[in-house]
Order: sequence, then C-alpha cells, then structure tokens
Amino acid sequence: MVNKSEIKVTFGNRGYIAPVIVGTEGEHAVDIRKLRAETGFITYDEGYGNTGSCESAITFIDGEKGILRYRGYPIEELAERSNFIESAYLVIYGELPTARQLEDFRNSILMNAGIHEALRTMVAGFPMTAHPMAGLSAMLNALGCYYPELSSNNRKQDLENFDRTTTVLISKVRALAAMGYRYRNGLPVTYPKRGYSYCENFLHMMFSYPGEDSPIHPDVAKALDTLLLLHIDHEQNCSTSTVRMVGSGGANLFASVSAGVCALWGPMHGGANQAVIEMLSEINAGGDDGSKFVQRAKSGEVRLMGFGHRVYKNYDPRAKILHKQCMKIFDALGTDDPLLKIAHRLEDIALNDEYFKSRNLYPNVDFYSGIILRALGIPVNMFPVIFAMGRMPGWIAQWKEMAERPGGKIYRPRQVYIGENERHFIPLMERV
Ligand code: CMC
Repeated sequence: MVNKSEIKVTFGNRGYIAPVIVGTEGEHAVDIRKLRAETGFITYDEGYGNTGSCESAITFIDGEKGILRYRGYPIEELAERSNFIESAYLVIYGELPTARQLEDFRNSILMNAGIHEALRTMVAGFPMTAHPMAGLSAMLNALGCYYPELSSNNRKQDLENFDRTTTVLISKVRALAAMGYRYRNGLPVTYPKRGYSYCENFLHMMFSYPGEDSPIHPDVAKALDTLLLLHIDHEQNCSTSTVRMVGSGGANLFASVSAGVCALWGPMHGGANQAVIEMLSEINAGGDDGSKFVQRAKSGEVRLMGFGHRVYKNYDPRAKILHKQCMKIFDALGTDDPLLKIAHRLEDIALNDEYFKSRNLYPNVDFYSGIILRALGIPVNMFPVIFAMGRMPGWIAQWKEMAERPGGKIYRPRQVYIGENERHFIPLMERV
C-alpha cells in the first residue's frame, strides 16, 4: 500500500509502516531504519542494487535517461566548458570556484607535488613487475604517515585540516603515478612546472627526458583532462562506497582513499579500461572481426568488457563524450589504431543484437577510455591508475560529506546466516 509519505508492509497479522524519503529529483526511498527494531526482519539485497546507503548532494544519475550531473551541472556542459581542476573543486566544495579560489586551489596543488625522500625509497622498493595499483594504494596509505597532523583519525582534527589534505592528495596521486612509471622505466623523477595545467604537468612528469623541454600537444592534454573530469564522481559505486565505509569507522582520508584504490582495481570496476584493451588485443590477434567474441559473451563464457552498467540502462553519457574525444585525438595525432576499428565493429554488433538490447547493455565509460589512453602512450597496466587520479576528488568529496554528517553511523550491514547450527567441539583424536 503506497501513499505519498509512507509504505505499509504486512506479514501475517503484523505490519510495519515505513516512511518514504523523496530526493530533490523525485527519487523515492523506503526508510527501513527501524524495520529490525520493530519487526525482527532485515532486508536482503545482495549487490545493494535497491539499497540507498546515504543521502548525498554530490552526483545525480538517471540511468534510464542517461543523465549524469555533478552538483546539478550536466556532465556534457562541464566537459565542454570546465576542466578537471575546476570541476574537482565544484564536486568537493559544492560550488564553482571564483577566479581567486581557483588560483589558490591550483597553486596549492602545485606546491604539494614534492615527495619525501623516504617515500621515494619505498616506491623504488616495489618489484618492477608489481601492478601500479598495488603500489598506488600502498603509497597513498603510507603518505598519511608523513602528515600525522592530517591523518590523526580524530575526526574533528582531520576535518579542520581537510582543505590541505585535499590538495596534498590531488597533487600527490599524480606525482606517485608518474614516479612509479619513471622508476619502472629507469628514468629520473621529474617535477611539475609552473604555468602548466594539471594534465600538462602529468604528461611532462611522465614523459619528458632530463634536460629536454618536450612540448605538450594541447589536444593530448585536453583529451586527458576531459577523461579525468568524466571520472570525478559516480555516486555510490564500489570504490566510493568503500571510501565511505572505511571512513565511517573514523579512518582518515589517506587510509580511506587507499582502500578506494584497491576497490577500484578489479576488472568489473576501474580495471575494466585495462580489460577492454586486453579483450580488443585478443580479438585482433585471433583475426576475429568481433562476432565470435560476441557469441562467447552471449553464451556467458566471457564478458564484453566496457559494456553494461549497474545504473545505466541507456548509453553511458560519459562514453558518448569519450567517443568524440577519441575520434578527435586520432585526428590530431594523425595516427590509427586497429583496436579502434574493432571497438567500432563490436559496438555495432552488440547494439543490434537481441541479447544486448534486451539486457540494456550499452558501452560504458571504459569502452573508449582505454583506446584514448593507449593513444597517449600510457601503458595498459596504468589505465586504472589514471581512473584513480580522476576519481580522487570524488572520493574526497564523498568522504567529506560522510564525515561532516551529524550523528553519522558506522557502515555495518547485516547478513542472513546460512551456516551450521550450534555444535560442539570434537577433540582431535576423536575426529574421523
Ligand atoms: N557482457 C555480456 N553480458 C553481460 C555484460 C557484459 N559486459 N554485462 C552484463 N551482462 C549480462 C549478464 O550476464 C546478465 O545476464 P542474465 O540476465 O542472462 O544473467 C545481465 O547482463 C545482467 O548482468 P549483471 O551482472 O546482473 O549486471 P550488474 O549490474 O551486476 O553488472 C557490470 C554491471 C558493470 C559489473 C557488468 O555489466 C559487467 O561486468 N560489465 C563488464 C565490465 C565493465 O565494463 N565494467 C565497467 C563498468 S563502468 C566503470 C565503473 O563505473 O565502474
């Protein structure tokens, strides 16, 4: 039974009246916070597809219509008119910055690029073959140890220092990503230059040779900037929920985002961009035009990586923007990539196939992001690292929102136990 403000659930002769919460975009949620106390029941929702874990004012997604907004601004408008750092500020603080605020934010990011010598030794201590995501997660957590005043696990103090922690993290994630690459390639560490944008500096820190001032192609920097902007936030996805969950226990921001990196790493989440390139390369090497792979995906043997989304049941708006950016970058660089042709063919086959149509499986953000990153010369195993750089402001914003909420609760879901009933210990000699 539904009315405007409550839902009544009945079981036998018992009933529970649940208030209904309505979000600013008209989304309805049944508030079951008192369900167990009043009825003894819990809800069961593996994968949390129907569970709201928080109220949030950061990102709005309408998956059916393919809408994504940061703080109310459509993603298409931000991708066209803003840039990564300005949008990061918007997502974290809720409003677009004034010219002065933006300048201070940028300067603070630039000034925090240095990495402590001892931490550099740690980066160098990782095996050359280690996955960069393992290194990044470890380094972000270790980074907190060099800023004890920012990572106190005293919520009040960590919030008072929030602005500084924010620019330290946005700056250092870039420095750590580039430094890991330089070590793995036997190159000396490079520092950012004043006057370069965030992305120009990342490309400079990754690819410039000692003593050489290699120019940065503006289209390349723009493509990377758009890609990072599109990744800033995506409401309560796996890594963001992890950041909130870790933070909900009182952990500082460094520890929380370090856990976020681990959650992002998997191929069903932020590792999908790497998995897309591996899939396209496998198809290319096997001489398949994509149709055999699609058949295997339909039989459940493999997944078509870069396709499907828990929330989008329509074309992911980020994928549309990235596809355009992808075509632009190939034009600008005057290069070609056989994997782009395969991606186009796969998309064509899948979008016209009943299996994909009936399940609303469309390309997601990762379908074209890997092809762009490949064109920029980023090694495949660093693709999830780039995703983490883009997602960093979103994790920071979500941690802040969670930490500032008065009376915020530790995240602690329940379970339905399906193990053995009570039994008693059998001494070793008596076991058969
Ligand atoms: N290829 C083939 N079949 C698929 C795919 C796919 N990529 N994705 C879902 N399906 C099928 C799935 O087999 C199931 O079929 P059936 O109903 O017959 O059992 C149906 O579609 C629903 O799938 P699901 O696994 O219940 O959907 P989900 O919402 O739990 O999973 C997903 C979402 C993104 C994990 C999944 O679509 C997937 O694994 N995609 C490939 C990996 C990928 O590209 N991940 C990046 C997501 S975007 C970046 C981010 O925000 O993290």
